[in-house]
Amino acid sequence: MGISDSMIETTATSKHFLGMSPAAFLRDYWQQRPLLIRNAFAEFSSPLAPDDLAGLACEDFALSRLIAHNPASDRWTVRNGPFAETDFADLPESHWTLLVQDVDKWDADVAGLLGHFDFLPSWRVDDVMVSYAEDGGSVGAHVDHYDVFLIQGLGRRRWQINTDANAPKRFRDDVELKLLSEFTPSHEWLLGPGDMLYLPPGIAHHGIAEGACLTFSVGMRAPAVAEMITDFAGFVAERMADEMRYSDARILPAKAAGEIDDKALEKIGQTLRDSLAVDASTLRGWFGSFITRYRAAHEAVPRSKPLNPAEFIRRLAAGAQLQFNPWTRLAWSKAARGATLFVAGEAYPCPRSLAERICGRATLESSELATLDTASLDLLLTLVNAGHLALSRSRS
Ligand code: SIN
Ligand code: CO
Repeated sequence: MGISDSMIETTATSKHFLGMSPAAFLRDYWQQRPLLIRNAFAEFSSPLAPDDLAGLACEDFALSRLIAHNPASDRWTVRNGPFAETDFADLPESHWTLLVQDVDKWDADVAGLLGHFDFLPSWRVDDVMVSYAEDGGSVGAHVDHYDVFLIQGLGRRRWQINTDANAPKRFRDDVELKLLSEFTPSHEWLLGPGDMLYLPPGIAHHGIAEGACLTFSVGMRAPAVAEMITDFAGFVAERMADEMRYSDARILPAKAAGEIDDKALEKIGQTLRDSLAVDASTLRGWFGSFITRYRAAHEAVPRSKPLNPAEFIRRLAAGAQLQFNPWTRLAWSKAARGATLFVAGEAYPCPRSLAERICGRATLESSELATLDTASLDLLLTLVNAGHLALSRSRS
C-alpha cells in the first residue's frame, strides 16, 4: 500500500519549519513515514560554500569520500579522503559527489543547523554530513538504518524514494557501496534551496544532483540493540562478585548425564534475567555512560599541564569563557538530588540547571560562571583538564 501524497508533502509555515508542530511531526512521521517539507528553511543561506567543503576534505582529520558513477558502464568508484587539490582538478565534469561527515564538529555555522532539531533528544543526533555533487552526482539508491533530514543547501537535487516497506532490499555485489540492485520509486521531487526531506530508517532513496548542488544531511544515531546488550552485559558483569555462580541446589538425579534438561534451562534463563534486571538508577547510569561514548569519533585530549583551581578562578575572573569540545558527547539525567551529567562516558553529580546548560553546549561566559558554587566550578575545572571544555579569552 502506498502512502497518499497529502500525507507525505507539506509546506513550512512561519511558525513551524516542519509545516506542523514538533508534537504532530513526532506523532505522525518520526520513525514512521517520510515527509517532504517545502521551504523548511525560508531564504536559506548555505552555512558552507562548496570550496570550504573541498578544503575540509583535504584535511587529515576529516572523514570524506568521493563517489563517481559512469552512467555508460554503470561502474561506481569510491575513494576515501583525505584528498589533495589535484584530486579535484582531475575529476570529470559530472556524475560525482564529495561527502564529508561530522561537518558540524568543524564548522560552528553548520552546527547551528542542529538548533532546529532540539525537539529531539540531542543524544539521538549523530552529525551533519555535507555533500557536494556535480550534475548527475549521486551515491546511488540505498537504504539507511537511521532517520535523516536532508536539507537542500545550494542548487537542486531530485529525490526519489520508495515508501513500500516490502520493496526488495537486495544489494549489488559489484560495488563497495551498499547499493540496491532494484529500485522503483513511488515518489519523486525536485528539491531547491531550503526544502527538506525527512526519511525514517529503512526507506529506499536516491538523490541525483540536477546541476551542481550542496546537501546537508542531519543524521540521527540509534545504537543496535546488539550493541546495547553487549555493553550493558559488560557493565553488569564488571559490578558482579566472582562468587555469583550458577547454582543448582536440590536438583533431581540426572536421567542422562549429558543432557541439559528443562529444569536446568529454566534456572539458566532465570539467572540471566535476574542478573540483568537492574533498578532505574543503575539503568540511567549505564545508558548515560554508554550513549555519551557511542560513536564518538574523536577522544578529548587532556590538558598537558592541568590547571589548578586558583589559576582557573583567576582566568575566569579575568573574563575567560568556556567552550565545548565539539566531539564531546553530553547528556544528563535526573538523580535523587539534582542531576547526573554524562560526559564522554563519565558520570558527574551536577545541579540540574547547570547540567541542562552544559548540554545546551553554548559558550559559558565569565559573568555566569561567577555565580556558580565551588562544587560546580570544580566540575568545570575537571572538564577543562580532561579536554572537554576549552578556556578562551572573552570576545569583549
Ligand atoms: C547525499 O547527500 O548525496 C546522500 C545522502 C543520503 O542519501 O543519505
Ligand atoms: Co541515505
